[in-house]
Amino acid sequence: MTEPLIVGAMVRTLGAYPSGWRQPGAHRDPAADADILRHIAREGEDAGLDYLFFGDWLATGPDLEFRDPYLLARIDPVSAVLFLAGITSRIGLIATVNTTYADPYTTARSLASLDVLTRGRAGINLVTGAEPRAAGNHGRDAHADNETRYDRAEEFVEALRRLWDSWDEDAWIADAERGVLIDPEGLRAADLHGAQVRVTGPLNVARPPQGRIPIVHAGTSTRSRALAATEADLALTAAPTLADGIATRRLLRDIAAEAGRSPDALKVIAPVLPVVADTDAAAHRIVERLLALVPLAEGHQPSRTAFPPNRTVAALADALDVAADDPLRAVAFDAPVTAAEAARLGERGAALIERLARIAGLHVSGLHVSGAGRGEPLTWRHLVAAHAVPAAFVVGDARTIADHFETWRDEGAADGFNVLSAFQPAQFEAFTRLAVPELRRRGLVRDAGEREGATLRDRLGISSYVDA
Ligand SMILES: Cc1cc2nc3c(=O)[nH]c(=O)nc-3n(C[C@H](O)[C@H](O)[C@H](O)COP(=O)(O)O)c2cc1C
Repeated sequence: MTEPLIVGAMVRTLGAYPSGWRQPGAHRDPAADADILRHIAREGEDAGLDYLFFGDWLATGPDLEFRDPYLLARIDPVSAVLFLAGITSRIGLIATVNTTYADPYTTARSLASLDVLTRGRAGINLVTGAEPRAAGNHGRDAHADNETRYDRAEEFVEALRRLWDSWDEDAWIADAERGVLIDPEGLRAADLHGAQVRVTGPLNVARPPQGRIPIVHAGTSTRSRALAATEADLALTAAPTLADGIATRRLLRDIAAEAGRSPDALKVIAPVLPVVADTDAAAHRIVERLLALVPLAEGHQPSRTAFPPNRTVAALADALDVAADDPLRAVAFDAPVTAAEAARLGERGAALIERLARIAGLHVSGLHVSGAGRGEPLTWRHLVAAHAVPAAFVVGDARTIADHFETWRDEGAADGFNVLSAFQPAQFEAFTRLAVPELRRRGLVRDAGEREGATLRDRLGISSYVDA
C-alpha cells in the first residue's frame, strides 16, 4: 500500500481527553466555541488536512462529566460545519447525523445545501446512536434495538441517495434567451416506500456538486460493519491496537467484496490520539499530567438514568479480577503502586502498567518494564484513569508519531486516521505544526497545495465510486 493517507481531525473543542480542559491554556468554555472552532478550522486547513469531523450525542447529563466531558455541551454538528463553511475554502467538513432520530428529507436538504455552499466539501457521518436518553428528547418511549435502528439506517441511506439524485446534472438549463429554466424531465421523485422511511421528493436544493456526498459510518456491531462495508465511503473504526486495526480493516474489506463491491472503494479510518511535543520525554510528561488530572468518580452519586461511572478503584479492581476482600480495593488514590501490589494485578494489570510506562514513563519501584524510561512513580490514580479512559495514544516527537502512521499504513491497518487532540488548541497545533511536516516529508500525506479546488470525494480518493 503506497497511497498517501487520509488525515482528518475529529473536533472536540473541550479536548478529547477527560482532563484536557484542565491543562494550562486549554479551551474550557463551550460558550466561546466560535473562537476555537475558527482557530481549529484555519489551522487544519493550513496544514492541508483532508477534513474536520464533528460527532454527535443526542442527550446530556451530569454523569458525562465522569465519562466524556466534551459531550456535556457542544454545538450541533450541522451548525458547526455551516459556521465553518464560510471561513474555509479547501478542507472537507463532515457532520454526524443520527439516523434513528433525524428526518431523511431534512438531512438530505441540509447536506446538499452544505455541499453547494462549499463547492463540494460536504460529508455525512451516519450513526444509529448508543444513548438511551436520546429517546426521551425525541418523543419516544425507548431507544430502538440494534436491528430496528440498522433497518432504518439502511433505508435512510437509500433516501439520501435518491434525494441527492433528484436533479440530473444538466436539468438546470437557465437559458435566458429562450426563457427555459429547467428540463422537467431531469427532475426525479425519490418515491421511497420503506418500512420505516417514506419520502416522495424531489429535493428542493440544486444537485450537490459531489453528486453523492461521501458517506461515513461509525459503529461497532455486526449490522454496523455490514452497513459500513456495503454503503459507506469511509468506515471509522475504534481499533486500539495494530493487530485489531489489521483484523478490522480486513474484515470490512472482505464484507465489501462479498457484497460485490471493490474493497478499495471503502477507506478504513482508524482513531489516533497523538500527544506530540519536541521530544519523547516532554510528550510523556504531558500524558502523565493528563492522567493525574482525570477527575475520578469516587463519591460521585450517579443518577438512575446515568451511565455507570467507571472511574473508581472498585471498577478497576473488578476489571482486573481482584478478589472482593483484597485490601487493594481500599488503597488511597495517590499512593504509589508497589511491586508486590503490581504482582497481584494479573496479566491485564501488567499490560496496563507496561502501557503506562511506554506512554507516560511512569514506573513501579522495583519492577522492571522493558523499554520504559524512568519518570514519575505510578499511582493508583494513574491506573484508574488509564483503565477508565482507553485511548489510541501515540506519544512522542514528530518521528514517533510518523512511525505510527507509517506502520499502520504499511501493515494494512488503516487507509487514514481521525486525529483526536487531548486538549485544544495546543495539542492540535502540536500535531499540525510538528507531526504533519514529518508525515509530509515521508510522503505519507499529500502536499498541502496539491488538492486545490478538489472536492472532498477527490481528496478521499473515492472519485471513481461505483454503485455496488
Ligand atoms: C470512531 C467512532 C466514532 C463514533 N462517533 C459517534 C458519534 O459521534 N455519535 C454517536 O451517536 N455514535 C458514534 N459512534 C457510533 C456508536 O458507537 C454507535 O452509534 C453505537 O454504538 C450504536 O451502534 P452499534 O449498535 O452498531 O454499536 C462512533 C463509533 C466509532 C467507532
